[in-house]
Amino acid sequence: MKVGVVGKGGVGKTTVSALLARAFAVRGRRVLAVDTDSNPNLGLSLGLDADQTDAIPTVPRSVIVGVRGDVTIEELMADYAVMTPEGVALMSALRVSEAGAGCTCGGHATVRSLLGEALDTETDDTIIDMEAGIEHLSRSGGTLAYADVLVLVMEPSRKAVITAERTIALARELGIGAWIGVGNKVADAEQRTILEALCAEHGVPLDIVLPNSADVTSADRLGSPLGRDVAHDVWATLDDLVDRVLGVAVAER
Ligand SMILES: Nc1ncnc2c1ncn2[C@@H]1O[C@H](COP(=O)(O)OP(=O)(O)OP(=O)(O)O)[C@@H](O)[C@H]1O
Ligand SMILES: [Mg+2]
Repeated sequence: MKVGVVGKGGVGKTTVSALLARAFAVRGRRVLAVDTDSNPNLGLSLGLDADQTDAIPTVPRSVIVGVRGDVTIEELMADYAVMTPEGVALMSALRVSEAGAGCTCGGHATVRSLLGEALDTETDDTIIDMEAGIEHLSRSGGTLAYADVLVLVMEPSRKAVITAERTIALARELGIGAWIGVGNKVADAEQRTILEALCAEHGVPLDIVLPNSADVTSADRLGSPLGRDVAHDVWATLDDLVDRVLGVAVAER
């Protein structure tokens, strides 16, 4: 499955990407996580330290993946993917390494071409941790145009839900077939009720709800990985999310 994890800034895209990637890997699937954040930190959540995360080679901008492009997926994986302690291969696609390095359109085109390829010789699941916002659905012909499913991460706030609503509109235009609404950082029943009402009002599905987790907070504080030792309630929910994502594949057949 090719999964784009999207949403407003700070809602938990990187957290959900890391947890989802790990949950797929735990099921014995080969997982490639792609960090497209211009300030990448998915590596930390997948068990690398800060130096190792910084040392991940960035896919050069404008590289087009595919037999008629610059590199094959096999070459790309060999040169740029790093295996993390959490059993997930990690690639960094858009890092801004120099101040004033210019726009990242080329990096978006790279990710678009990557998703356009049949990746199954190298990976079962590809998870794209997107930059905040919705630009990636309009830029370079839609960075995520070839995703099978979008995971719309929302915290309990109207702005987060509106971002998801706008994302769905763009996804429809691009012909992306499916999306899954994920509430994140939902602290209690009251917040859940508020989020449910906001989603209903804005026409956004709320399929999965992840709790506000003290374990996630402390992993973030320490920069430690989001492994199996994070709270049971988070993992139970993640299993549901994996089933949902895989269910999309069945529904599409
Ligand atoms: N379920 C959760 N429980 C508690 N804290 C969480 C949860 N999910 C995310 N957080 C915290 O929220 C903050 C933002 O999370 P994260 O970096 O994953 O968001 P993001 O959407 O990737 O942000 P950005 O838009 O900057 O890329 C972090 O401090 C993270 O630890
Ligand atoms: Mg992030």
